Amino acid sequence: MDIFEAISRRRSIRRYSGLPVEDEQVNAVFEAVRQSPSWANMQCWRFVAVRDRDVREKLAEYSYMKSFMEAKGYKANPSKKALVEAPVVIVACADPADSGEVRGQDYYLVDMGIACQTLMLAARGLGLGTVFVGIYEEDKVRELLGIPEGVRVAGLIPMGYPLEEKDKGPSRKEVSEILYNEKWG
Ligand SMILES: Cc1cc2nc3c(=O)[nH]c(=O)nc-3n(C[C@H](O)[C@H](O)[C@H](O)COP(=O)(O)O)c2cc1C
Repeated sequence: MDIFEAISRRRSIRRYSGLPVEDEQVNAVFEAVRQSPSWANMQCWRFVAVRDRDVREKLAEYSYMKSFMEAKGYKANPSKKALVEAPVVIVACADPADSGEVRGQDYYLVDMGIACQTLMLAARGLGLGTVFVGIYEEDKVRELLGIPEGVRVAGLIPMGYPLEEKDKGPSRKEVSEILYNEKWG
């Protein structure tokens, strides 16, 4: 699959078949991830691959933030089931001290965003589905997995063979709405 096809055919997958993901596939995805650009090439990313079903059930339980859910009128995270159905959940972590901070902008989140997109596109290229989950109780996830104090959890990414085929995702802005030429506006 070429890169443009992987980009345009990646969708958030929230239903997974029970098929396990082979270690070779996980390794192939991470061979791609390690090529991602990062602040001063410091590669602040660390990932925990969770295969244990009991632990994934806990992650699903923690994929909740009361204030956010109530404001949005959600009863549960739309990816709650995905965290249990997908045979592996990648927990994306970073130590902000291993990245840059300028003008009050923390670049570890940029490093993480890039690495996670590399992960999701590489997975798509291998026929695997993913979804980026940004809503969860970070302290509980940190405690569950023994993630040290100070290391931030940037996202949970269920990964597995999709049970759903999605050709189209939610609508996108046109290029003319997001690209300005020479000057703003
Ligand atoms: C930072 C971030 C946080 C997200 N958090 C969640 C989440 O908690 N639960 C969920 O189901 N989807 C989550 N998503 C997935 C988005 O809803 C999804 O990417 C978007 O609707 C576009 O759909 P597509 O990925 O199928 O193109 C998140 C995506 C991003 C980038």
